[in-house]
Amino acid sequence: MIIPDIFLFIILAFMMVFVASSIVYSTIKLGITPMPSSNKAYLAMMQLVDETGSGTIIDLGSGWGNFVIRIAKKYPQRKIVGYELSYLPWLTSSLLKKVLGLKNLTLHRQNFYKADLSKASVLVCYLFPEAMGKIDEKLRLEQADINFLISNNFALPSWQPSKTIRLDDFYKSPVYLYKIGKDEAKL
Ligand SMILES: C[S@@+](CC[C@H](N)C(=O)[O-])C[C@H]1O[C@@H](n2cnc3c(N)ncnc32)[C@H](O)[C@@H]1O
Repeated sequence: MIIPDIFLFIILAFMMVFVASSIVYSTIKLGITPMPSSNKAYLAMMQLVDETGSGTIIDLGSGWGNFVIRIAKKYPQRKIVGYELSYLPWLTSSLLKKVLGLKNLTLHRQNFYKADLSKASVLVCYLFPEAMGKIDEKLRLEQADINFLISNNFALPSWQPSKTIRLDDFYKSPVYLYKIGKDEAKL
């Protein structure tokens, strides 16, 4: 059956409207777009992950999967988990996970504030200041086994980073490594 051009155009237009409205809706709801970290930031985050042992890594807001997929490929023995609420980024990353056969990667379409992070050893994020405040509070209230937090660009308000990498970009953007534990330095 030959589909007339006008129908193809209408289907395409509907799909574009669906994609755009889904992203706009989740951006308004969550306060952040699913914009991936820059390549320079990924390299810095991966360098910091190298210093975190062999425990589970959780990406808080895994977006389109750019970070979790790289890290799952690099560390096939480590368990990698991503939490993402925005539907299309979560769907895309889940399909990529299947196509690439990444058995060590689990992707949840779930709000990470409500998730049980107690099994994580390393948290990774690229969020915004208000979210960092909420994560700070969650880390203080929950007695988890979390040892490290790596944050692209945004600091944890009341913790002292143990290492900061400055990216070679216009803003000299920071990527922070925090050691999280009862005895670690807080501000
Ligand atoms: C700037 S993107 C970062 C994506 C990826 N981590 C990276 O570095 O490339 C932040 C993501 O966090 C997601 N997000 C924000 N708040 C969330 C929440 N409470 N639960 C789950 N995902 C959330 C957004 O939908 C967005 O895709």
